[in-house]
Amino acid sequence: MNAPNDSAIAGLIDAARQARENAYAPYSGFRVGAALLTADGRIFTGVNVENASYGLTSCAESGAVSSAVGAGVRDFVAIAVTGPDNGVPCTPCGSCRQILHEFAPNLLVITEAASGAVTTPLRELLPQAFGSGNIQRVEGR
Ligand code: THU
Repeated sequence: MNAPNDSAIAGLIDAARQARENAYAPYSGFRVGAALLTADGRIFTGVNVENASYGLTSCAESGAVSSAVGAGVRDFVAIAVTGPDNGVPCTPCGSCRQILHEFAPNLLVITEAASGAVTTPLRELLPQAFGSGNIQRVEGR
């Protein structure tokens, strides 16, 4: 699939905003929704799920990846991430950048700024990334 056009981007942001309704963020109040667009045009969503332990919190982006991979889909084109409607782009945290890179080094990351949607290649957010290509697989392990 080609890079999403403006209407596909708007649809993906909308899906992330809808997902955000189900975010579980009673501790931070910082509700996040993510919508992952797959190469075959499907959309998988995720939300942040906080935990009383704080440290066990999981991010919206990793939830969307788990949902897609669990459905047997690993070919991703773009992800939209929506945090609070404060005009500040909610870019994926470092850990989520690495999780996204595992499956889609060429992913486009779409966030919302006060001026509208911002599209940034994951390669810019995670330069010189460590990935599967760095690992020498050994037969039998
Ligand atoms: N969070 C996400 O879900 N995704 C991000 O990209 C940034 C942070 C969540 C984790 C936590 O529940 C809350 O936002 C505040 O950090």
